[in-house]
Amino acid sequence: FGDRVLAGLKVVVSAGPTYEDIDPVRFIGNRSSGKMGFAVAEAAVQAGAQVTLIAGPVSLATPPGIAMRADVRSAAQMHAAVMEAAADADIYIGAAAVGDYRPNARADNKLKKQSGSELTLQLIENPDILASLSAQQTHPFLVGFAAETQNVESYARDKLQRKGLDVIAANQVGDGLGFETADNALTLYWAGGVAELPRADKTALARQLIEHVAARYKAVRG
Ligand code: C5P
Repeated sequence: FGDRVLAGLKVVVSAGPTYEDIDPVRFIGNRSSGKMGFAVAEAAVQAGAQVTLIAGPVSLATPPGIAMRADVRSAAQMHAAVMEAAADADIYIGAAAVGDYRPNARADNKLKKQSGSELTLQLIENPDILASLSAQQTHPFLVGFAAETQNVESYARDKLQRKGLDVIAANQVGDGLGFETADNALTLYWAGGVAELPRADKTALARQLIEHVAARYKAVRG
């Protein structure tokens, strides 16, 4: 960044999947690698921000210059860590793929196979981190992600509204883009605006995302 567009700002970034334990050896997870979120955190550091990174279970090294990293496992743990870190943050970027549901109970011992019968797992809803933040009277500028396989714009705009976000970054999953890949392509939506960030590696894309977020932040809060 020629100019440090986020200088003096505190930014919290969440990244990676969440794992919801079923028993001591099994869990429900998702295919997020955390690469996009880690790239966003690194780009925010390079733009001059003080960055806290809340990471789900990933095997990625902490980017240089991160002020604080907290590692969590479940959506409930990520919710608690983000709410604490975001209390005095200027911007929250939710790049984590947070599990929507968790088993209603975690078994203390490994579940045994009961041959010949079905097993039913009961799931209960996890709290929505972005929605929890936006419900607070004062909260950081909120950036969400939306990974969609269809109707990308309408689902993303709906999410922008429903979760009370300032910007949403939508990507189409599939076609060698999105999860577990080096490349991605994003479309940013905000109230009354849109920006296309064409296919690029996640590092380049993260820098462009940060440029736009900084510009929107300044327009709304500057
Ligand atoms: O509704 P959906 O999960 O597709 O929305 C994605 C966005 O919402 C991401 O930014 C994700 O980090 C955030 N999210 C959240 N808390 C949840 C689920 C998703 O903050 N429980």
